[in-house]
Amino acid sequence: MINTILMFVIAYLLGSIPSGVWIGKIFFNEDIREHGSGNSGTTNTFRVLGKKAGTTVLVMDILKGTIATLLPLLFQSDINPILVGVAAVMGHTFPIFAKFKGGKAVATSAGILLGYHPLFFCIAVAIFLSLLYLTRMVSVASMLGITLVFLLSFLFKDWILTTVAGVLMVFVILRHRANIKRIINGTENKVPFGLGYQK
Ligand code: G3P
Repeated sequence: MINTILMFVIAYLLGSIPSGVWIGKIFFNEDIREHGSGNSGTTNTFRVLGKKAGTTVLVMDILKGTIATLLPLLFQSDINPILVGVAAVMGHTFPIFAKFKGGKAVATSAGILLGYHPLFFCIAVAIFLSLLYLTRMVSVASMLGITLVFLLSFLFKDWILTTVAGVLMVFVILRHRANIKRIINGTENKVPFGLGYQK
């Protein structure tokens, strides 16, 4: 029991590492939450701090989720790894190290999929990139992408995966409320072709 609680706490703390905020402050002396969309995630890091910082934050935010799904192995626990991963997503979204103001749950959710089902992760990335190419809006690609992941998850007949995907889909959409308003107003940020937010 103590082991299980410890595992979830570690996953939450891992997810709480505010990659975008720390990289911005340490290497650029900037708080990315004061620029662009105000979000602390990968997209806004690309937008505000450029490709190198954005790629670093993307990798870190994905790894937070992936490492969390490996904790049951480390703790020799039979808890489903994807459930531990969800604790990392909660940490990423409500980080204790950044006044509980975190990202929109996309990259860390992708990270738990990578740890739990690598093939499905590759399919999800292909779907996301296709949607991004077509719409040029990360927010739309994220929301439609996770919705398609939820629908496709039924094919795997893994009800825990489907339940988690459904919960995360609702969660990701709720976290994109400001984006949805901008999409409706026609003012949502678009990624230039070549994915090149320049810095
Ligand atoms: O993952 C977040 C992305 O979907 C939107 O980010 O900064 O454009 O609100 P942003």
